[in-house]
Amino acid sequence: MSRSLLYLALLGSLVECLSLAKRYTNSSTPGAPLRFNVNGTFQISIMEDLHFGENAWDTWGPQQDINSVEVIKKVLDKESPSLVVLNGDLITGDNGFLENSTIYLEQIVAPLVQRNLPWASAYGNHDHQYNLSTDALLEHEQRWPNAMTKNMVESEDAGTSNYYLPIYPNNCTTTSAAAEKCIPELILWFFDSRGGFQYQKKDASGNRLGLPNWVDISVVRWFQQTHAVLTAKYQKTIPSLAFVHIPTYASVAFQTAGVSPHYQPGINDDVPVSPQAQGWCANGTNDRNCDYGGQDVPFMQALTTLPGIIAVFSGHDHGDTWCAKWNTRLPGMTVAGNGINLCFGQHTGYGGYGNWERGSRQIKVSMEQLRDFEVESWIRLESGHVVGSVGLNATYGRDWYPATNNTKTNCPTCNYTIVTPGPGS
Ligand SMILES: *[C@@H]1O[C@H](CO)[C@@H](O)[C@H](O)[C@H]1NC(C)=O
Ligand SMILES: *[C@@H]1O[C@H](CO)[C@@H](O)[C@H](O)[C@H]1NC(C)=O
Ligand SMILES: *[C@@H]1O[C@H](CO)[C@@H](O)[C@H](O)[C@H]1NC(C)=O
Ligand SMILES: *[C@@H]1O[C@H](CO)[C@@H](O)[C@H](O)[C@H]1NC(C)=O
Ligand SMILES: *[C@@H]1O[C@H](CO)[C@@H](O)[C@H](O)[C@H]1NC(C)=O
Ligand SMILES: *[C@@H]1O[C@H](CO)[C@@H](O)[C@H](O)[C@H]1NC(C)=O
Ligand SMILES: *[C@@H]1O[C@H](CO)[C@@H](O)[C@H](O)[C@H]1NC(C)=O
Ligand SMILES: *[C@@H]1O[C@H](CO)[C@@H](O)[C@H](O)[C@H]1NC(C)=O
Ligand SMILES: *[C@@H]1O[C@H](CO)[C@@H](O)[C@H](O)[C@H]1NC(C)=O
Repeated sequence: MSRSLLYLALLGSLVECLSLAKRYTNSSTPGAPLRFNVNGTFQISIMEDLHFGENAWDTWGPQQDINSVEVIKKVLDKESPSLVVLNGDLITGDNGFLENSTIYLEQIVAPLVQRNLPWASAYGNHDHQYNLSTDALLEHEQRWPNAMTKNMVESEDAGTSNYYLPIYPNNCTTTSAAAEKCIPELILWFFDSRGGFQYQKKDASGNRLGLPNWVDISVVRWFQQTHAVLTAKYQKTIPSLAFVHIPTYASVAFQTAGVSPHYQPGINDDVPVSPQAQGWCANGTNDRNCDYGGQDVPFMQALTTLPGIIAVFSGHDHGDTWCAKWNTRLPGMTVAGNGINLCFGQHTGYGGYGNWERGSRQIKVSMEQLRDFEVESWIRLESGHVVGSVGLNATYGRDWYPATNNTKTNCPTCNYTIVTPGPGS
């Protein structure tokens, strides 16, 4: 082992120790690392764009939340995930009151706590607001031992939900994980694409200060360094999946080139996709002069050059639910794809724009398929139907699938006759 590899391995042990120490803080069942089940599978249910806490002062606001909880319960009654990912915009913080803006977490996680399910969040632009702090959100999440959400990047501009989670084989017990006899089969990476507004900060003229809407460069560097540490420590490329609320510009470029209902099954109603760095100029200004500033290029370069990343899952665009294999240099892009799959999920909450039927993207990882860097995925709708079931494998993008029906539903108990503007608008 070279000196630098040794250094990386030592650093890796340190990173591991710190993350284990954090994970076991006041857990009621101490020492439950995330593991594949006895059958060698690990399923993830993505709940995204839940948008809790809209218009608490109108009757329909709380009604939306009651119906969103029902969506979560209906999905979990049909699926058996090992982990739930809350992929951003948990709360519409724009409507929050400073004194209690994180309170909606109680409703969101109740069905998960009841089922004793662990969860992990990647925060979205509506979680970063003047009255809602993502640091407070993380602190509130960590009141439950089921919360796997962390903050591993301390730099000032990083945002909050930047971390990774190792998923171990079933025979890996707490003790063996702590003793580092276990090698993760899968790594889950979570990124904070920020956006929204800075918490409790205004400029000289009293306007809220915006927050850049891309994965910060300090986080990209941490991603590259930590990926190298893990590869050196375990002497292998560990297959991985990534979660980030706002999609990268690659999804815009792919959509512009053409999304097919049979090769990228799903809804494609949000055209164009709203990507990271939207509304910013390349020179770092965002005074409505530019569509896109390119600040997500380093993140895309990392995603496409670090080995083993099978797919990246985003939310944000409620009307897009497809997955695309990015394996070329798409028109208008400097970064070329390497075969990574870019997936949207399904709008889960009754809050937030759009009436596409609510649901949740599922990811099924099996140890057998992981050897070929493949996973399966489908969308479970509130009605119980399954749509868009695909194999994210070597031939994805060339395999023919049935098109997804674009079903719309309305909140059954919400009366939208009276819409009172909030204090933030
Ligand atoms: C494992 O597979 C068996 C047979 O298909 C099934 O009955 C069982 O529920 C599975 N166990 C888990 C934890 O998924
Ligand atoms: C949050 O605070 C606001 C303003 O103080 C209050 O009107 C509202 O009832 C509180 N919401 C909850 C869920 O406690
Ligand atoms: C976990 O520990 C924190 C800080 O010590 C505490 O505030 C919180 O109530 C604890 N949570 C549980 C579920 O015990
Ligand atoms: C778990 O099982 C795998 C084979 O599936 C084996 O290589 C590994 O050493 C085992 N790990 C532990 C901690 O027993
Ligand atoms: C930044 O670039 C935009 C678009 O090219 C331009 O309108 C603006 O004046 C530039 N601002 C600065 C401070 O250079
Ligand atoms: C990829 O998955 C699809 C759907 O399960 C399947 O039809 C196809 O044969 C798979 N391709 C490979 C290379 O395994
Ligand atoms: C999709 O819509 C078509 C036409 O309305 C219908 O025949 C079909 O059963 C629907 N499929 C699903 C899976 O809902
Ligand atoms: C909706 O609210 C409005 C205003 O309060 C009321 O007039 C109307 O009857 C309500 N609609 C229903 C279906 O309850
Ligand atoms: C933030 O919360 C305070 C205290 O509840 C409230 O007065 C104010 O209107 C809220 N501001 C925004 C922008 O929502």
